[in-house]
Amino acid sequence: MTQAPVNVTVTGAAGQIGYALLFRIASGQLLGPDTPVKLRLLEIPQAVKAAEGTAMELEDGAFPLLAGTDIFDDPKQAFEGANVALLVGARPRTKGMERGDLLEANGGIFKPQGEAINAGAADDIKVLVVGNPANTNALIARSHAPDVPAERFTAMTRLDHNRAIAQLARKLGVAVSEIRKMTIWGNHSATQYPDLFHAEVGGRIAAEAVNDEAWLANEFIPTVAKRGAAIIEARGASSAASAASAAIDHIHTWVNGTPEGDWTSMAVPSDGSYGVPEGLISSFPVTTRDGAYQIVQGLQIDDFSRARIDASVAELVEERDAVTKLGLV
Ligand code: NAD
Ligand code: LMR
Repeated sequence: MTQAPVNVTVTGAAGQIGYALLFRIASGQLLGPDTPVKLRLLEIPQAVKAAEGTAMELEDGAFPLLAGTDIFDDPKQAFEGANVALLVGARPRTKGMERGDLLEANGGIFKPQGEAINAGAADDIKVLVVGNPANTNALIARSHAPDVPAERFTAMTRLDHNRAIAQLARKLGVAVSEIRKMTIWGNHSATQYPDLFHAEVGGRIAAEAVNDEAWLANEFIPTVAKRGAAIIEARGASSAASAASAAIDHIHTWVNGTPEGDWTSMAVPSDGSYGVPEGLISSFPVTTRDGAYQIVQGLQIDDFSRARIDASVAELVEERDAVTKLGLV
């Protein structure tokens, strides 16, 4: 091992996504088979003991690439020197909780984490927010890290992207590997828009290959957008291994690049592309190269897609306005 380890901070490390995520990071699937990693786990004090148990299991894995695991209950320490930050821990909505209460509770988590990233993370820090409401939590963290380039704050729609690929592959009876250029637009919520008008299957536009408007509008879009709720209904808990897998995919693609002729979906600060207000953290088609991403430009958006992108972006504007009113951004 000649390379210095990359510091990876994971919040919510004792949670169910954390349990599925940490072993894949330790095995080299996040950054590649030649990159050693040092894990910095952040938990709330009540869950530190459980995180210590997970750290014992990580040790028992004898992973050649794992250079060590440290556990913290203080964000300032956990983000010190972080090169990659996976912000998974969040306050879930509980019975009787209003939307404003949820945003406020999460503001109490993501504001200090943004400040800690600003104070101590490494210059090349890359942040992925997984904890819901992911786009707006990323917006809160970003707004408290003025010294970090805004584009380093991203939120996860890769799970939605993967779900959309899987549903399309199943409908057409093709392998997932035949599908390219899938896009999720907007918010990681039920308003998200999975776009089959730019996705390709074996070189053909997916919507044409499907040739079934009713399926596209009434089955495909709602199935992808409500898949998180369907998993909760079936499992009695929200998606964990698939979410961890998508988080691995998101960072791996950001660091290692998208394949030629393909792109991925990431929620990133808008530069005004496709009429999405600047600064909102919204999902776009992006290509990645040399550790940076670019929003794919020049796609034609028809009325069907425009209405759906606008609806999801309107929800993001509402969330931004609510957290602005609460003084969180
Ligand atoms: P979980 O409840 O099992 O674990 C969350 C962990 O976060 C807990 O161990 C908790 O102690 C910890 N935590 C809470 N506040 C913290 C803080 N301030 N600092 C550090 N840790 C803190 O939840 P989970 O199933 O692992 O899911 C985590 C989040 O990911 C949830 O918000 C969930 O809705 C979200 N999620 C997002 C996606 C996506 O696609 N973006 C997919 C699935 C789940
Ligand atoms: C998912 O998409 O599986 C999750 O975001 C659902 C949730 O509410 O945790």
